Amino acid sequence: MNSARQPALLDLRGIAKSFPGVHALSDVDFTLHKGEVHALLGENGAGKSTLIKVLTGIHRRDAGTMHLEGQPIDLHDPADAQRLGIGTVYQEVNLLPNLTVAENIYLGRQPTRLGFVDRRRMARDARALLAGYGLDIDVNAALGDFSVAVQQLVAIARAADLSARILILDEPTASLDAQEVATMFAMVRQLKAQGLGIVFVTHFLDQVYEIANRITVLRNGRLVGSHATADLPRLDLVRLMLGKELAEIESADHAHGPGRGGLCASFRDFGKRRYLAPFDLDIHEGEVIGIAGLLGSGRTETAKLIFGIERADRGEVLVDGASARLAAPRDAIALGFGFCPEDRKTEGIVGELSVRENIILALQARRGWIKPIPAAEQKRIAEEFVRRLDIRTTDIEKPIELLSGGNQQKALLARWLATNPRILILDEPTRGIDVGAHAEIIRLIRELCGRGMSLLVISSELDEITVYSDRVVVLADRRHVGELRAAEISPRSIMAAIAGTDAPVAQQERPA
Ligand SMILES: Nc1ncnc2c1ncn2[C@@H]1O[C@H](COP(=O)(O)OP(=O)(O)OP(=O)(O)O)[C@@H](O)[C@H]1O
Ligand SMILES: [Mg+2]
Repeated sequence: MNSARQPALLDLRGIAKSFPGVHALSDVDFTLHKGEVHALLGENGAGKSTLIKVLTGIHRRDAGTMHLEGQPIDLHDPADAQRLGIGTVYQEVNLLPNLTVAENIYLGRQPTRLGFVDRRRMARDARALLAGYGLDIDVNAALGDFSVAVQQLVAIARAADLSARILILDEPTASLDAQEVATMFAMVRQLKAQGLGIVFVTHFLDQVYEIANRITVLRNGRLVGSHATADLPRLDLVRLMLGKELAEIESADHAHGPGRGGLCASFRDFGKRRYLAPFDLDIHEGEVIGIAGLLGSGRTETAKLIFGIERADRGEVLVDGASARLAAPRDAIALGFGFCPEDRKTEGIVGELSVRENIILALQARRGWIKPIPAAEQKRIAEEFVRRLDIRTTDIEKPIELLSGGNQQKALLARWLATNPRILILDEPTRGIDVGAHAEIIRLIRELCGRGMSLLVISSELDEITVYSDRVVVLADRRHVGELRAAEISPRSIMAAIAGTDAPVAQQERPA
């Protein structure tokens, strides 16, 4: 079968892996060459992370063979993978934030001198290693003091240093802005030039076309195919991932909601010193307000003030015309506000609880813990959302940590939808969610607004914001700098508002 003159860097044949009730992988082949970036793509739950875990010794395969440069390999644990030169960086940085950058890079392999950790040498080596990637940071500072982006770069540098053959990146760019992604890609290109084979898992198709040489698509745990990126137009890729045309999923009407209703809440001169400049915002029933801006522009800060996570130190809130108190999330929930945060791991998912319990959590909290929601009702609600959001799980009693990343994200969204709030704030609702479910979530957002729920949606995806928003609030430097309405809304007008150019949009089109 594999009769290439020079054996592939990595060759997997007929890999199978099942969990109770799920064939996560069946008969999957995967080949990786030296000096290539190979994108591993597929819908949420397709089996991408499982394949990677088989490759890194976290899961043991049920069937199939694995060869590394022609030699059969068998991995029993992650240490085996590391010894063979297979390193991994996951979406959630799994280094230790309290340790320094240098300590993290040399974790478990600190240089010693006379039996003690040689801190000076460790710092020197760490500095040199990072400098090799053009990263000049204080290696004696705690890792947690740096942005997620820098933490990811450190994680990649560590993995590449430890395991110089294969580097696996599982959704490493999910929370990075465009500039940070560019920095990471520069690092990836450098490693590729050094002859590493790189496996890249992502849901951002633009990034795939920017950096990947080859693409392998999985669907329902099966191999759909492997193609050179240059031979696979984007629409064909989407079709392979979904097993159908995107147009079949996306609803035809891109019209805006059925006109907004009465005024629901007003924020007047609302703000907090050194956090977010005071702003005015009216929210009407059934309206979708997009919140746009670069990372760090004050989008999440806006959400946290509105939800009472951060306490405003000036201004007022009127709900149904009456002055309301908003000093804590409890107050916000009592007013009928909901907030679905971006970071599912730290702010949302309770891993050991079931899918049903996770979905029901906010609703139960709202009704009060002394009045447990009857079992049958819990089941009905959970099953309804599992169906509507197409959450892939064998059953609703499964611990949520056993679901794929994107399906956990959907369950978190369901939790807040289940409370049927008047105003729901969604922070990056489609992050980590595949293109098919993306379309479904956008459709759901519009439908909810048709029923009178108002939505505030924070998103970096300007195309998406343009599709569903009735109004777009634009932020920059922690202040609200503009508001666009219906016909004015386009990715370009949003960009212009972010950039602070009041010049007519047409001027921007002139080539530089
Ligand atoms: N430890 C586990 N126990 C039981 N089922 C699991 C376990 N890990 C994964 N699964 C199931 O295997 C299937 C594949 O999951 P996997 O995490 O590989 O998907 P994925 O392609 O990475 O999706 P995503 O894009 O959402 O991250 C899913 O149905 C998931 O629920
Ligand atoms: Mg995954």
